[in-house]
Amino acid sequence: MTELKITDLDKSYGSVEVLKKINLDIKSGEFIVFVGPSGCGKSTLLRCISGLEEISGGDLEIGGRRVNDVAPSKRGIAMVFQSYALYPHMSVYDNMAYSLKLKKTPKAEIKKLVMEAAEKLQLTDYLDRLPKALSGGQRQRVAIGRSIVRDPKVFLFDEPLSNLDAALRVQMRMEIAALSESLPNTTMIYVTHDQVEAMTMADRIVVLRNGIVEQVGTPMELYDTPNSLFVAGFIGSPKMNFFTGDLAKKFDAHTLGVRAEHFEIVEKGKWTGKVVHSENLGSDSYIYVEVGAQSPVVVRQQGKSFYKLGQEVSISPQEGHLYRFNADGKPVTE
Ligand SMILES: Nc1ncnc2c1ncn2[C@@H]1O[C@H](COP(=O)(O)OP(=O)(O)O)[C@@H](O)[C@H]1O
Ligand SMILES: [Mg+2]
Repeated sequence: MTELKITDLDKSYGSVEVLKKINLDIKSGEFIVFVGPSGCGKSTLLRCISGLEEISGGDLEIGGRRVNDVAPSKRGIAMVFQSYALYPHMSVYDNMAYSLKLKKTPKAEIKKLVMEAAEKLQLTDYLDRLPKALSGGQRQRVAIGRSIVRDPKVFLFDEPLSNLDAALRVQMRMEIAALSESLPNTTMIYVTHDQVEAMTMADRIVVLRNGIVEQVGTPMELYDTPNSLFVAGFIGSPKMNFFTGDLAKKFDAHTLGVRAEHFEIVEKGKWTGKVVHSENLGSDSYIYVEVGAQSPVVVRQQGKSFYKLGQEVSISPQEGHLYRFNADGKPVTE
């Protein structure tokens, strides 16, 4: 079993506290995503887990063993980075076999492990190629393959897809999710600043902000019941609409939040205003309506939008989909 337990973990660089009292329980085989804005401490937390960084306080347990002082190579983990640094003069096969050769694994065993990994990663037809003859996605798969052959108990990914174009990112997202399914006993921790990646890949998401854990939950828990204004604004695309001032006061809130998909354009809605911008994505469209709030309200519509700039529309939020927050950014509770 390879569960991870992080207790009151602190990490400082000199007098700068980067991670503050992190507490996390990660189950064996789980796919966990760390998400948060740039600089919030995601990579640092991952590097602390891997052992590339020493932790300043607290405890880290992997598979029930305290590993604070255990060398990275003895923790049973593998790390895949954004830049995947393959050996350029070695074939795909040799890149994947390299660490096993170093460990003096018998040749037949190496072959079996590399072939199995290649099969999982759809690299079987490319084993003789050099990295330069591969696409970006294939190179990333070789980098993952190099780790798989070592049979890690925990896989750590630090923004592995950020160098790939949008279409390839979507494909690799599915492949990594499928890989995780095919390795049910391997715990995976995946770092991204992209909330869409987090939503689509994670069993559970850990939202980090300024070195603290803001919320932990399944994608739908975070989407449906964000426990702060920050999470409400971070999870979901387009960003949740926020209203303050008199508009929010009418709802007994300091800040009222409504998602774009929870607005309806109606005959006589709660708010009326002019269309100031619209985005047609084909499958759906976003209409920006100026209703006198801090910024235009984004309203999602299925299909194409036929609203014209300057046209007056009336909108209403759907019942049961209002998010209310106090001045401290916490949800209003009754
Ligand atoms: N070696 C280091 N020395 C000093 N500060 C660092 C070091 N590494 C990271 N930091 C700081 O720690 C914070 C978190 O960084 P990082 O974990 O890389 O964030 P993220 O991966 O979420 O973008 C940043 O403010 C960064 O400047
Ligand atoms: Mg980072």
